[in-house]
Amino acid sequence: MRVTISNIKEMKARGEKIPMITAYDYTSARIVDAAGIPIILVGDTLGQVVLGYDSTLPVTMDEMIHHTKAVARGSEHSLIVGDMPFMSYQASVSEALHNAGRFLQEGGAQTVKLEGGVNMATTVQRMVSSGIPVMGHIGLTPQSVNQMGGYKVQGKTLKSAVRLMEDARSLEEAGAFALVLECVPTSLARLITERVSIPTIGIGAGKECDGQVQVFHDMLGLFTDFVPKHAKRYANLGETIAAAVAEYMSEVKDQSFPNREHSYHIKEEILADLQAKVH
Ligand code: KIV
Repeated sequence: MRVTISNIKEMKARGEKIPMITAYDYTSARIVDAAGIPIILVGDTLGQVVLGYDSTLPVTMDEMIHHTKAVARGSEHSLIVGDMPFMSYQASVSEALHNAGRFLQEGGAQTVKLEGGVNMATTVQRMVSSGIPVMGHIGLTPQSVNQMGGYKVQGKTLKSAVRLMEDARSLEEAGAFALVLECVPTSLARLITERVSIPTIGIGAGKECDGQVQVFHDMLGLFTDFVPKHAKRYANLGETIAAAVAEYMSEVKDQSFPNREHSYHIKEEILADLQAKVH
């Protein structure tokens, strides 16, 4: 059985923390799904950690759908959240509805995520009333990096903290089922978490959020171009892979790979007949 948005809301009600992780392909989705992660986010961070763009801005709907489909094929249990890329929902409500629908119809996701607060409330309301569950995302919203003047912690002044509280409340009222809080001071994230009924999922927002999200490639040491302060490295797979590749190269060169175990064989008599026949 796949996790539902009701299950996620129940986790908050029980005080059970909600781990969420990103995945962008079939293999990683299979691994995190089998580990029991309740929510997989097919994040637009794929632009940076998979496609090599220098921000999330160039990511297209077609790229997101391509990767969401792969994740859907690899997961059986986790709730899949498709991340709406830059300019797939900002221009008009009807375009937003159309693109959100693509995540469910073509991508195989059960829900979508979008960035924004009060300014996105009407869009969220229309999506929810059309049967599309929406996860909000406030605080540092990377698609607005140019507007924000960089990747900065949000909500440090009274004015901006009040605005974030209003954003959270308007998304809750619009019917969002959960809320990502990115790069928000811990005490503000705690206050928002206490004051809204929907689960908050933090990234750089302290441990008092209802859940946490990490980027797969950051937490496993696969992406080293830059490591955000809020990313914890649970493994160093980049180094493990580099060592394995070096060992493979050396074994190919010294001919210790492939050995009998990794090779296919025919019977000696067939080989003898073959040699006689082909000279
Ligand atoms: O795209 C993403 O991976 C995200 C998370 C960082 C929340 O939006």
